[in-house]
Amino acid sequence: MKKTKVAVIFGGRSGEHEVSLVSAASVIKALRSGDNSEKYDVIEIGIDRKGRWFTGENCLNIFKKNSVSGLGSIRFSTDPEHQTVDIAFPVLHGPFGEDGTIQGLFEMLQIPYVGCNVVASSTAMDKLQCKAIWKSAGLPIVPHIGLTRKELIENEEAIIRKIINELGLPCFVKPANLGSAVGITKAKTEKDLSNALKEAAKYDRRLLVEKAVNVREIECAVLGNDNPIVSPPGEVIVGGEFYDFYDKYVNGISTTQIPAKLDTEIGEKIRNMALEAYKLLDCGGLARVDCFLDRDDGKIYLNEINTMPGFTSISMYPKLIEAFGIKYENLVDKLIILGLERFEEKQKNKVSFESGSDWYA
Ligand SMILES: Nc1ncnc2c1ncn2[C@@H]1O[C@H](COP(=O)(O)OP(=O)(O)O)[C@@H](O)[C@H]1O
Ligand SMILES: [Mg+2]
Repeated sequence: MKKTKVAVIFGGRSGEHEVSLVSAASVIKALRSGDNSEKYDVIEIGIDRKGRWFTGENCLNIFKKNSVSGLGSIRFSTDPEHQTVDIAFPVLHGPFGEDGTIQGLFEMLQIPYVGCNVVASSTAMDKLQCKAIWKSAGLPIVPHIGLTRKELIENEEAIIRKIINELGLPCFVKPANLGSAVGITKAKTEKDLSNALKEAAKYDRRLLVEKAVNVREIECAVLGNDNPIVSPPGEVIVGGEFYDFYDKYVNGISTTQIPAKLDTEIGEKIRNMALEAYKLLDCGGLARVDCFLDRDDGKIYLNEINTMPGFTSISMYPKLIEAFGIKYENLVDKLIILGLERFEEKQKNKVSFESGSDWYA
């Protein structure tokens, strides 16, 4: 049997470059072991911090040493006849990877890829877009106010008054697009709020401010295209004040609890909500849906959806999927099958209308 050539892509321009290398090491290892090794050939592709693409035998290990020496560059061809990979597996977190941009490139190149499509990826990355869609479908989200950098510059005082009146303090200030809590501040005073708005505005032209909730952080893993499955919830037990970059990746004081200790009824409610959130965004392949459970009044909120969640063999997403008896090796195999399946399905679409077709005639 001809092996399927999988281009595993890692690194990238985002702040989560290193995290991506760790996730990719697990993915590559899983594709090269057991039954997968008979089925797949892995091509390692690294994107450096400047956005340059490289490939070579030992690309991941060379990238881990913060080097690109000895690696070759990549040539893109828009001619399907020239394709040298069967599917791309982008293991990239954050902007320029998880946000629809690289997915758009694959669409242009006509290469199947693992994970969410362009619109699901970009919507999931943009906290304001995502919340607008969930809200319109009646799903619960934390009260928030959206604004632009320009509005902030022109009207800071009025904006601060509005936030304090409508949401109160403390509140969370976030850039609309980003991840790993970069640019996010919990503002406790009016002065904090002013600084937090300016900080978030450095990262994006749109920001949002949310009411601070006394949260338990509950997450579900969703897997599939048209008939996705949703895992039982897991919980992140946050060590610091909130789940920020340092807490996640530097001091490692946060832990996970799988499954989360929850009333069955609440757990089921969260699972159903996660599934609906996934479908509303037209996700495919995989996503991790993050929810908040208010410790004070028991209310449940959708917080965000990650279309390429942390993906080492001990990360929350693969661990949650194990509840279905799907081991990490099977999970990466399944994701490739789902990516190929969705590509096949897309081939059925007419690209443009043809005069003389039945409905046009
Ligand atoms: N409204 C909120 N109330 C309480 N905590 C919050 C709120 N929003 C965010 N947080 C805390 O900040 C962390 C990061 O926020 P999040 O919206 O998930 O951004 P990111 O995309 O960077 O992960 C959350 O995991 C949570 O700990
Ligand atoms: Mg988050």
